[in-house]
Amino acid sequence: MPVTPEEHLSGFVVAIDGPSGSGKSSVSKQVARRLGYGFLDTGAMYRALTWWSLHEGVDLTDADAVTAAAQRFPLLIGTDPDASVVEVDGIDVSAAIRETRISTNVSAVAAIIPVREILRLLQRRLISEAGRARGGVVAEGRDITTVVAPDAPVRILLTASEEARLARRSKELHGAADADAVAATRSQIVDRDRADSAVSEFTVAADGVTTIDTSHLDFEGSVEAVLSVVEGARA
Ligand code: DC
Repeated sequence: MPVTPEEHLSGFVVAIDGPSGSGKSSVSKQVARRLGYGFLDTGAMYRALTWWSLHEGVDLTDADAVTAAAQRFPLLIGTDPDASVVEVDGIDVSAAIRETRISTNVSAVAAIIPVREILRLLQRRLISEAGRARGGVVAEGRDITTVVAPDAPVRILLTASEEARLARRSKELHGAADADAVAATRSQIVDRDRADSAVSEFTVAADGVTTIDTSHLDFEGSVEAVLSVVEGARA
């Protein structure tokens, strides 16, 4: 476990991983609100680094160049679930990081192991700071339960069937879940998850991680399912 004793996490940490379209971002954010905790979207950090690398003209196939960009990455990311802030070098990138050109390039950045180590350290620091400030934090991503915060008291894998994930993301991206919209979404979900799973295991729960399958749950049902795991752990 890549954690030294002096690096203990502060506050009550809820670590949530899952594939694209599992609903983990919106569910995690709502769980954080309900608990009065901080919220960290680690995917937004990989997206912002992808934005920054492209902005700086870095060749994303050059691992050393992307790692150098990560080392001087001027990121400001908020942890208030009610006020999302993602800035790079003073530029608000919160909308830009959701664009297709970022979604299609982010896996290349996330596959670079030295980049993951740089972001892991930054993520642990942000988790500890938010946990200290608010008493707890919900952090979501692909490797939070296994690599970033394996010592979190609550670790959850939020999954959903491929069909459910495609329908949800297709509604988000295209406002519909008809056959054309689903086909257009497929590469953004299935292909990206395939690429991402080369560096993180987020389809099968690691030991001690609770799986919640949201395929047949609505948003509120998913939030309640996560809250009941958290309450069970806090009791
Ligand atoms: O959750 P998301 O779609 O915003 O994540 C964007 C990308 O970042 C995703 O393709 C995988 C990567 N990622 C990662 O490798 N590790 C994390 N902890 C979070 C995201």
